[in-house]
Amino acid sequence: KDGVKIAADLLAHYDVHARRLAWRALPGANAADPYRVWLSEVMLQQTTVAAVGPYFAKFTARWPSVEALAAADDADLMAAWAGLGYYARARNLLACARAVVRDHGGLFPDTEEGLRALPGVGAYTAAAVAAIAFGRRAVVVDANVERVVARLFAIDTPLPAARPAIRAAADAITPDARAGDFAQAMMDLGATICTSRNPACGICPLRSDCAAVRTADPAAYPVKAAK
Ligand code: ADE
Repeated sequence: KDGVKIAADLLAHYDVHARRLAWRALPGANAADPYRVWLSEVMLQQTTVAAVGPYFAKFTARWPSVEALAAADDADLMAAWAGLGYYARARNLLACARAVVRDHGGLFPDTEEGLRALPGVGAYTAAAVAAIAFGRRAVVVDANVERVVARLFAIDTPLPAARPAIRAAADAITPDARAGDFAQAMMDLGATICTSRNPACGICPLRSDCAAVRTADPAAYPVKAAK
């Protein structure tokens, strides 16, 4: 069925073209360090991959494990975070690291539900960490994934009303195996090919699967509500 072909096409492309980001395991590997995955996902909320890079390097050099981060001085951590913005994320980061050490023996919970119970971990982060660090089948939807899915299925409902349909479609194409690679491949596609303006449909691995590319204006998806 459709979803299986989409996932297969996307993963074959990811195997060759995955961005080699510091927190990632190589495509197909089943172990990425949960601490590094969690830290990167928190940093990547509202911040670009390019801006996160140096902060991720600095944090993991200074605090290489969740135990080390849990023992950090609050003021040191806030100072290291300076420039990333959204400072509530930094306070939650420390609260979460301490909860993992205090309540979970230093091991991140390995399910979406368990992760969701940690301070500052919302639905998106829980799904991302469950899939990327633990290989769980989880449906990971951020703004990039939303755009890719809205185009694949030419979803005509405007945002935000389209969100339930987008999530259902994302669920339908998420594979049982390699859900973490699949999620990151969708993010890479949205960031590099299926971009908001001027998508590079000519080099897209999902071109043959995409409903929007057969319309006059693929970039018109996702449809925005009239202002
Ligand atoms: N944005 C948020 N998480 C990401 C990830 N794991 N890879 C690429 N972009 C991301």
